[in-house]
Amino acid sequence: MKSNILPGLFGRPQKSALAGLRFALVLAAINGTAWADAADGREVIELTAAQRAHVLGEMRAMLSGTQAMLIALAAEDMAEVARQASALGMNMGHKAENHLHDVLPPAFMQLGMAVHQDFDRIAADAAFRKDVKHSLQQLGTTLNTCAVCHEAYQIQLIQAQQKQ
Ligand code: HEC
Repeated sequence: MKSNILPGLFGRPQKSALAGLRFALVLAAINGTAWADAADGREVIELTAAQRAHVLGEMRAMLSGTQAMLIALAAEDMAEVARQASALGMNMGHKAENHLHDVLPPAFMQLGMAVHQDFDRIAADAAFRKDVKHSLQQLGTTLNTCAVCHEAYQIQLIQAQQKQ
């Protein structure tokens, strides 16, 4: 299963995301905010319950927004595509991530901001180019960044870690 996904993940469009990821892993080693989980293999980001709820809430908003965009694209409703995409743009990114700036690894922040920037671009292009295929292509590339980050990181509660 994993080997089917990986060639797609590490294909051409993800170069910048992967560069960010390497950067992140190096930085994580320096500042110790993330560590590798032997069973899972991904880097662990330790958060409080409130921080975790905040990040995961943003994630669910991105999933449901993406779902709404696909339905709107199938209906060729480009105004709705633009509306859904801009709700996930940099505005959301600043609100959601600014106060977690010191907690999240820099490369994690970079990948997250890249996704929010992509959604702003998707919104602008949906409004002005009104080209379904182009928007689908953009969405596909953005979802690769989601997948790259999910392959690299997991979240654990700080207090669960302290009990060990
Ligand atoms: C910067 C890294 C990063 C990016 C980019 C990212 N995610 Fe996530 N996402 C995570 C992490 C870390 C988790 C928690 C995974 C874990 O602990 O196992 C997560 C969890 C989720 C969850 C589960 C939420 C829950 O309530 O448990 C969903 C859904 C999700 N992401 C959707 C998305 C979608 C859709 C995108 C892209 C549009 C995206 N994510 C982009 C890092 C990211």
